[in-house]
Amino acid sequence: MSNRLAGQVAWISGGASGIGAATARVFADEGAAVVIADVGDATGKQVADEITSNGGNTVYCSCDVSDGDSVAQSIATTVQRFGGLNIVVNCAGIVHVGLLHEYSEADWDRLMGVNLKGIFFSLKHAFPHFSRNERSYMINVGSISSLVGQRATPAYTTSKGAVLSLTQSIALDYAATGLRCNCVCPGITDTPMLRKHLNTTPDPDETLRQRVRRVPTNQAMRSDDVARTIRYLACEDSAGVTGTSIIVDGGYLAAAEWDTADDPPAAGNDT
Ligand SMILES: NC(=O)c1ccc[n+]([C@@H]2O[C@H](COP(=O)([O-])OP(=O)(O)OC[C@H]3O[C@@H](n4cnc5c(N)ncnc54)[C@H](O)[C@@H]3O)[C@@H](O)[C@H]2O)c1
Repeated sequence: MSNRLAGQVAWISGGASGIGAATARVFADEGAAVVIADVGDATGKQVADEITSNGGNTVYCSCDVSDGDSVAQSIATTVQRFGGLNIVVNCAGIVHVGLLHEYSEADWDRLMGVNLKGIFFSLKHAFPHFSRNERSYMINVGSISSLVGQRATPAYTTSKGAVLSLTQSIALDYAATGLRCNCVCPGITDTPMLRKHLNTTPDPDETLRQRVRRVPTNQAMRSDDVARTIRYLACEDSAGVTGTSIIVDGGYLAAAEWDTADDPPAAGNDT
């Protein structure tokens, strides 16, 4: 434990699973008081209990980020419990796979509600508390789909593109108040969200193997890799960084084309 976040209070949406849960663990390990805000009550409580039993200061708070009242209530609970708030991590996210003409209006609205509107609600209700601090931090979890297209997930890619735009707007509008707002864009990351999707294919492990062949490091990111980048943006290690994004994708977006099977030699790919 380095206590880099000692005295800080963090609200992490989507903290019950995957990247959000890893972020809650990393933040608690660094001394922050953490509120895990999620709709996954059972897993959320489990993660909070596990962190607490390891000496962290963490509570679970049931919260649907697509519902403004729920976010307001969850942030009020955070402030009541820990006396303030200066870090918000918007990690809650869902995917809807399908072609756009097959979407219902409810499919579109549900996804935008969680992936995008939740960020608006978090800023709206956190800002009055942020403004009491000299410094505060918002980190929004985008995706490589914030920067490039992806097949069969039109609402998801649209929402993630907008996450980056909204990050830039927030950074500009609130910079003078001491808020820094940044985006982390993960590539293929081995989380329950990814596993759920892989499990719809006949051979999930083979599907993952095929996918990571397109990643120069030849592996999926771990939630922890992304969580440590989020931590960097949630403290003064990243002083001066605002309105931008950090891609954590194992080099995926560095190449227009990458397939280790047929490519010319690259160091480490000597099969
Ligand atoms: N796993 C990947 O490959 C990958 C890649 C790029 C970006 N991301 C993004 O990272 C973030 C975390 O994804 P993950 O892979 O850890 O997924 P995950 O499914 O493991 O975790 C997402 C969490 O969000 C919560 N959630 C869903 N709807 C919610 C709501 N309405 N209110 C509150 N919480 C809600 C879920 O209960 C879950 O705990 C998402 O924004 C996702 O889009 C993931």
